[in-house]
Amino acid sequence: MSEPRVSIHGQWSSRWIFILAATGSAVGLGNIWKFPYITGENGGGAFVLVYLACIACIGIPIMMAEIMLGRRGRQNPINTMHTLAQESGASRHWRLLGWSGVVAGLLILSFYSVIAGWALSYIVKTASGTFEGADGDAVSAVFGDMLAGPGGLLFWHTVFILMTMAVVARGVKSGLEKAVQFLMPALFVILLVMVGYAATTGAFSQGLKFLFNPDFSKLTADGVLVAMGHAFFTLSLGMGAIMIYGSYLPHKASIASTTFYIAGADTLVALLAGMAIFPIIFANGLEPGAGPGLVFVTLPIAFGQMDGGLIIGTLFFVLLTFAAWSSSISLIEPAVTWLVENKGLSRAKTCVVFGAMTWLLGIGTVLSFNHWADYKLFDKTFFDLLDYLTTNIMLPLGGLFIALFAGWVLSRADSREELQMDDGLGYRVWLFLVKFVAPLAVIVVFVKAIGLI
Ligand code: PFF
Repeated sequence: MSEPRVSIHGQWSSRWIFILAATGSAVGLGNIWKFPYITGENGGGAFVLVYLACIACIGIPIMMAEIMLGRRGRQNPINTMHTLAQESGASRHWRLLGWSGVVAGLLILSFYSVIAGWALSYIVKTASGTFEGADGDAVSAVFGDMLAGPGGLLFWHTVFILMTMAVVARGVKSGLEKAVQFLMPALFVILLVMVGYAATTGAFSQGLKFLFNPDFSKLTADGVLVAMGHAFFTLSLGMGAIMIYGSYLPHKASIASTTFYIAGADTLVALLAGMAIFPIIFANGLEPGAGPGLVFVTLPIAFGQMDGGLIIGTLFFVLLTFAAWSSSISLIEPAVTWLVENKGLSRAKTCVVFGAMTWLLGIGTVLSFNHWADYKLFDKTFFDLLDYLTTNIMLPLGGLFIALFAGWVLSRADSREELQMDDGLGYRVWLFLVKFVAPLAVIVVFVKAIGLI
């Protein structure tokens, strides 16, 4: 057995802390903001089914592969891929995989922070009673007014970037993951409360039907691409975030069971969010395909009408902000560790550099909801383009190459050693999935979405 490397950034104190941190990365805006609105835009049940299939057959095996590569390399994703490729006698160009991850993380953070800014501003709005007794029209007007004002959006985007940098500068392992220990369960409980409320709206079964009753006539090739891209986005895969978290994982921890916990928790939160939101949509005659504002115009209606809605609503947006926060730090961690390890810069300086870059780029997203709303390329605004490029193209491509490396380049002996699996059924299923199923699925969905088949 080869001597395990150690990360210069240290280790998680236990496997449990890794599970919390990786779940903190996975559970975020993707589950509560994005999953419901893309489900609404893509017709519901059939989309959800494809998404679940992608989690099971592509997401879980690739997550295992990504954690495994991270722990074996124990460096930032670029150096990890470089070292592992060298050790396997493969091309050093594999480190481009690390590069694409670093870039994707910065691009995603630039718009992620703007949306997290919406959640921040909704803490204040909800706490100050804006939604008390408000109906669908009033709540939509509040959301519309917020989007129309770039100054406010920029302010909250700035606050969120500063919050992210404050944590990353001190090192991911100090602080936030401890907070996540009780904030994640709290978010879970509040989602259950919201599902409970949704059950009283009179449209609960209509909401569940929309979510779980597949109607394949509503599913397009692009919808399948969106579902697959979202499987990567929601599990934080394909860009080195989970790889870098894996690089802090203690040597003895089992990767397979760890992955099941993370993916299970992530999927559950997304489904609960859908079960809370869709009944409210139907009960209030709203449009499921309303787009990125969906959560922000549905849940506040419920908060405005239910007993204790002011407190529950405020708490909800506080917890949503925390969920986004624990995700955003992992978006930038690959870039930060790269500069720290390769250029010897301090974490604090590195944060200033990348914080400023993502903040600047975020202004494009801020403007795409107001002044630039009519500037479109391929019928997409600046925000839509960034989202599409990263989620639907860069992450699946990154995941494809991670799967290819883990399945074809790394030797079986190495992957078995790192996964701590014997040559039994579990390992063989995993190997089959990363070698054949995941890469083929990504390629077929791509080709189909481009319209070549
Ligand atoms: N998984 C996060 C979410 O669902 O909100 C977003 C994300 C975090 C994507 C980290 C990618 C990543 F590396």
